[in-house]
Amino acid sequence: MEFQLLPGGVISGEARVPGDKSISHRSIMLGAIAEGTTRINGFLEGEDALATVAALRALGVAIEGPDDGEVAVHGVGLHGLRAPAGPLDMGNSGTSMRLLAGLLAGQVFDSELTGDVSLCKRPMGRVMGPLQQMGASIEGSADGTPPLRVHGGRALHGIHYDLPMASAQVKSCVLLAGLYAEGRTSVTEPAPTRDHTERMLRGFGYHVGNENGVISLEGGGRLLATEIDVPADISSAAFFLVAASIAPGSDLLLLHVGVNPTRTGVINILRLMGADITLKNQREVGGEPVADIHVRHAPLAGIEIPRDQVPLAIDEFPALFIAAACASGRTVLRGAEELRVKESDRIAAMAAGLSILGVPNEVLEDGIIIDGGGLGGGVIHTCHDHRIAMSFAIAALRASAEIRILDCDPVATSFPGFDALARGLGLQIMARVD
Ligand code: S3P
Repeated sequence: MEFQLLPGGVISGEARVPGDKSISHRSIMLGAIAEGTTRINGFLEGEDALATVAALRALGVAIEGPDDGEVAVHGVGLHGLRAPAGPLDMGNSGTSMRLLAGLLAGQVFDSELTGDVSLCKRPMGRVMGPLQQMGASIEGSADGTPPLRVHGGRALHGIHYDLPMASAQVKSCVLLAGLYAEGRTSVTEPAPTRDHTERMLRGFGYHVGNENGVISLEGGGRLLATEIDVPADISSAAFFLVAASIAPGSDLLLLHVGVNPTRTGVINILRLMGADITLKNQREVGGEPVADIHVRHAPLAGIEIPRDQVPLAIDEFPALFIAAACASGRTVLRGAEELRVKESDRIAAMAAGLSILGVPNEVLEDGIIIDGGGLGGGVIHTCHDHRIAMSFAIAALRASAEIRILDCDPVATSFPGFDALARGLGLQIMARVD
């Protein structure tokens, strides 16, 4: 599929973007190993979350749905998973692979995790290392990439793991393996990362400690089924936060968005740039903060992005780079080397696209410098990355000519229906099946 966008447009109205991807993955995994039936609504029916559903089904868990965002997971308890008949295909989803690696390390059976071309290039040493320290037997290919082979039946023991990088996937992997380990498993992180695993474990009645930044749990407990209301994904909302901010005349309300403080870097950064964003109707739903977000057009100015905001906005940088391209002055991002190991090298992919649109930029090892001003048109390659596709789609609002974006199929991994929703809000977008 490719997107074709006419320049200009105004973003207005109300919308609820699809469910949070991180929370959707975790709801299936924890529901599967809980006792009883977990009922989920607002589930993301995107390819990544569906890969997690398929994997847990292959591990013997009965899952009904998703049907209009509703899922029922008939939990089998901590020790009820069954050996899969073949390799588990995680598609494009790094979260599925890294979290399931932790879950599978503690099982009595062998398993194999594989994925698509992009996932099979991503680093897995970061999860294999701590799992091996816990006594797991797990190996990947020689360069530390998938497929991963897990040999079951090893007795795991709790460790303390000081995360070398700010990664919620690694943290969650270690904690999930810790459920199966003898004794206490704890982690510390170089900077706070999304804490959905910790919150949701507590929602399933499992004690997770957090003293002075040491996150810990004891192995061998029980998870009790619960109800989960998945909020709209702030990472999907981010495209429209930027879209409404950059397009003159825009006025948009995004409904029921997850605003967990470990995820709101995009709001903080846009506000520092001058954006007009207000949170309304703030509430807590199933242990996660939720709000409606009102955003209106405002002139943006370039900034030096504070380093402490980087892990809190990690998936939103492609969209934020478009905001920077439309801002007056210079935006500087540093300390974001993790962007290089996402679904694509997002620094390189965004820099290439910005250059095609005539936006001056300089690539740094761990970030980018962008000089805002005007945007032209052109043909963009997504590097098979959903967020690159959606970011350049919203760029059209301020472009001086048409933008064509090739290879947009991966948008379905996180945001099914993006083009229709965006069109309804005012983006002049056409999707073509190629
Ligand atoms: C995620 C954590 C982040 C994020 C990814 C989802 C999660 O990755 O980029 O999209 O659900 O835990 P890292 O943990 O690699 O930073």
